[in-house]
Amino acid sequence: MMRQWPIVLLISAAFRVAVGSTCLADGIPPERRKNLVNVKLGETYPLGMHLNDWAASYASSAVAKILLEEKLGYNVTERLTGAATVDAYFAVAGCLTPTIIGNRGCGDGPAVTYSHVSLEAWTEGYAATWEQIQTDYPATAPVNVGNMGYDGKVSFYIGRGVKEAAWESEGLNLDFFRGYNISWHLAAKYFDPPSVVNNSLLLPCNVTRLWISRVMQFYAELTGDWDGVDVNDGVVTAKCWEGKFWYAPSCRGNSSGCFVFLTGGNGWDLENSMQKATAWNMPMACATALNWKWFTNLPLQHDMMFYWWVPDPTFLSLSPLEVAFPPHDRQAHLRGDKRTSMSTTSVDICVSKDLRVLAPDAQNLFENWDISLKQVDHMLLDQMNTGDGWDVTACRWLQNNEETWSKWLPDSTTCFAQFGLYNSVTKMFVENRDDPTNLECLACPSGSFSRELVDSTGLTHTCALCPVGTAQPLGAAVQCDQCDYGTYQDEVGQTACKPCKIGAYQDEKGQGVCKVCPTGMTTLGLRGRSPLDCGCAVQSIDIGQAGEPNCVSCGPAGEYLKCPFGSTIQALQSGQAELGEAFVPEIEAGYYSTDAAPLEVYMCANTIQCPGGEPGTCGGGLEGIPCAECPGGRDLVGHGV
Ligand SMILES: *[C@@H]1O[C@H](CO)[C@@H](O)[C@H](O)[C@H]1NC(C)=O
Ligand SMILES: *[C@@H]1O[C@H](CO)[C@@H](O)[C@H](O)[C@H]1NC(C)=O
Ligand SMILES: *[C@@H]1O[C@H](CO)[C@@H](O)[C@H](O)[C@H]1NC(C)=O
Ligand SMILES: *[C@@H]1O[C@H](CO)[C@@H](O)[C@H](O)[C@H]1NC(C)=O
Ligand SMILES: *[C@@H]1O[C@H](CO)[C@@H](O)[C@H](O)[C@H]1NC(C)=O
Repeated sequence: MMRQWPIVLLISAAFRVAVGSTCLADGIPPERRKNLVNVKLGETYPLGMHLNDWAASYASSAVAKILLEEKLGYNVTERLTGAATVDAYFAVAGCLTPTIIGNRGCGDGPAVTYSHVSLEAWTEGYAATWEQIQTDYPATAPVNVGNMGYDGKVSFYIGRGVKEAAWESEGLNLDFFRGYNISWHLAAKYFDPPSVVNNSLLLPCNVTRLWISRVMQFYAELTGDWDGVDVNDGVVTAKCWEGKFWYAPSCRGNSSGCFVFLTGGNGWDLENSMQKATAWNMPMACATALNWKWFTNLPLQHDMMFYWWVPDPTFLSLSPLEVAFPPHDRQAHLRGDKRTSMSTTSVDICVSKDLRVLAPDAQNLFENWDISLKQVDHMLLDQMNTGDGWDVTACRWLQNNEETWSKWLPDSTTCFAQFGLYNSVTKMFVENRDDPTNLECLACPSGSFSRELVDSTGLTHTCALCPVGTAQPLGAAVQCDQCDYGTYQDEVGQTACKPCKIGAYQDEKGQGVCKVCPTGMTTLGLRGRSPLDCGCAVQSIDIGQAGEPNCVSCGPAGEYLKCPFGSTIQALQSGQAELGEAFVPEIEAGYYSTDAAPLEVYMCANTIQCPGGEPGTCGGGLEGIPCAECPGGRDLVGHGV
């Protein structure tokens, strides 16, 4: 992951005219963009944006995509499109099928997510699901980085034509909930009945919120309308008519007395319309449009009540009127009781938990994001009037509003993992950005590692020298490697560990010194890894008891005893050494000692009688001390002690 701001900007400015593939004059062109680098997984992949299936989300996401690509230099992919804010929660948490109600594909908890951000999240309405995801998937649960810069409002709307017809014919006020009380008025006659809506343009009940058991059970408990739901094995689903509709109690007996309430997505807030219909005695037939296209077209074709919100341009041509309900009760809504009017709600940005590490500058961009409702509306209207794609519309907005978005860009002292703050004038890495002049980000050199620094500006990284006991041969590292067994490092900032010298060993990792072998002992070579690598030096032998080493001399080389490195009395007696045959101590040829006192060595007359080797060895079937039939050879010549 290379990121050297000033150079990238200079080069891309030079190429701009020729390439022309960017929206912004000094945008980073595609061939210079980078993927996210996941050090833990050893994987690289593009920054993933989860889109929500409504206009303001498309507009803001298109703006974000251009800034991520052209200003921060990321490869960006647009991933699944979700029809509801909750889909985005599951997507950004890393669930594999985030848009499928009933099976979001989260498994036992996702390990990684390839969706890193979702803009235009209407979080307040789905607080319970948010909390549940935080509890169920703590490792990957999304993070809310705050408000986009405006609040939105969802409500129920009718076309102006419907309202005027009712007003003119009987002074009936259909922009007020009491106008729908079936005991007083037949409001439905100013709308089209369910039967005129082409049924194949509606979503089946079983793929909408009508099939979320928890939500429907709450509905039935709140309103007492158990006739409006089915209960099977404890699973509660809404009753479903014509495969597509739920009818309110007040028109359930005769659906031609119902008017249609249309929502979109996977049945956005259906429980809200159900609660209101039952509580306020409204003859409502609730249905969900097949997709965005029909959600935005059916209300233009038929007189119906529909779910809508600002910011959004879709129904502006109807001059829609909001239907008023009793004043908003926040506590009740948080409990799930949505009988009162809806309130304005914060429209937020959610990012993945790991974005902060993978792309701190992108996280920074979203934390700084601040666009006004007016500006979003402007983009939405521009798109509607021109029919241009969202990318073209967003680009046009960016080109004309630099003073707005330039404030969102992270400054050049926001360094990634693997990078550190560097003063380009003194040519030194620095430990903080108390003085931000001349600072940039440079990959950490070998012998150092990139360390998180959180200060008043936010998260950045500095390069810190590898501490004693560690080293780092590579640049752009996020940690130093501990020195292995048999090695040490007594200085900071080193690229390699030093081997333990002869006579020393290290049986722990990450150490600043080696341990010295016990007196008289040494090692065979460098890098001793354990106390067992220490042995008596050549021509000495360990006669110690119970693990306490005690090396004694074996006399001059070539005489009585041959004692290779690491000799022990046990090896002498058994003729076997752990290090191998070459390390077995033995009696020299022409000498003899007994098993019982192997170090009391006798000189023999010749090497045939006393071939040497293990104590107690005689040649030619002889025996005794030393090898009985050994005339004149009975001199005890000494022993090693
Ligand atoms: C960015 O994405 C493009 C197209 O997907 C790919 O060819 C390129 O290798 C990616 N860049 C990096 C640095 O991975
Ligand atoms: C209903 O919609 C479907 C799908 O668009 C279409 O094929 C069919 O002709 C429509 N039916 C009527 C009666 O308009
Ligand atoms: C919904 O119902 C239809 C028709 O009854 C059925 O074919 C379909 O498989 C169901 N879908 C789900 C997700 O249960
Ligand atoms: C159903 O309601 C419609 C409209 O309100 C009415 O014309 C019709 O007679 C009713 N049908 C029955 C069977 O009650
Ligand atoms: C509907 O109107 C009737 C008759 O005035 C009234 O008794 C009832 O309380 C009203 N229902 C609601 C939910 O306002």
